Amino acid sequence: MTVDLANIPKTLIRPMTVDDIAPVVAIEVEVTAEPWSTKQFQQSLEQHQCWVICGAETDNNQPIGYVVTATVVDQTEILNIAIDPQYQGHKLGSQLLRHTMGSLSDSIESVLLEVRVSNFSAIRLYFNYGFIEVGRRRDYYRTEYGREDAILMTLQRSAVAPIVEQGS
Ligand SMILES: CC(C)(COP(=O)(O)OP(=O)(O)OC[C@H]1O[C@@H](n2cnc3c(N)ncnc32)[C@H](O)[C@@H]1OP(=O)(O)O)[C@@H](O)C(=O)NCCC(=O)NCCS
Repeated sequence: MTVDLANIPKTLIRPMTVDDIAPVVAIEVEVTAEPWSTKQFQQSLEQHQCWVICGAETDNNQPIGYVVTATVVDQTEILNIAIDPQYQGHKLGSQLLRHTMGSLSDSIESVLLEVRVSNFSAIRLYFNYGFIEVGRRRDYYRTEYGREDAILMTLQRSAVAPIVEQGS
């Protein structure tokens, strides 16, 4: 089921809390065949940067999407990003990615991620933001029918500045 555009709530992006983990896991099991566990999100809260996007006018600012990033020195990796299927395709993923990129410290020089070759919406989301393909990991992901490659994408932050200004 998808929601009508008119019903898209005003959104709010805030740090993920322990109370968000259950609704986040509920979304996670819907959007991927190999969902992260509750424990993985708990560990991410302790070790990584975690944000949720919420409907600002829904009960308790219930998460409708989330992102987890990990930073080592001057490089950040996007480990997980998802939007509740009901709300996909309405630029909420783009909002969340833009917020995530904007929240990074100036010392971060590059951002990287891995994505399934078949995940067209995610590839488009990243490509729109200025990520480029830099490599592939053959047969990296399991699928229902066998295995598929991972695309490695990266973005050099100095190269993206004009794109961010135009898109915001
Ligand atoms: C990837 C994801 C986060 C994108 O969030 P979203 O809110 O649906 O994305 P947006 O509405 O901001 O759209 C981003 C781009 O993807 C495209 N897109 C969105 N849904 C799409 C679909 N079903 N098929 C093809 N393209 C799609 C949009 O057209 C847009 O590109 P455009 O601006 O050039 O038109 C979301 O689809 C999702 O949660 N997917 C499942 C989890 C996942 O795959 N995460 C990424 C792991 S690497």
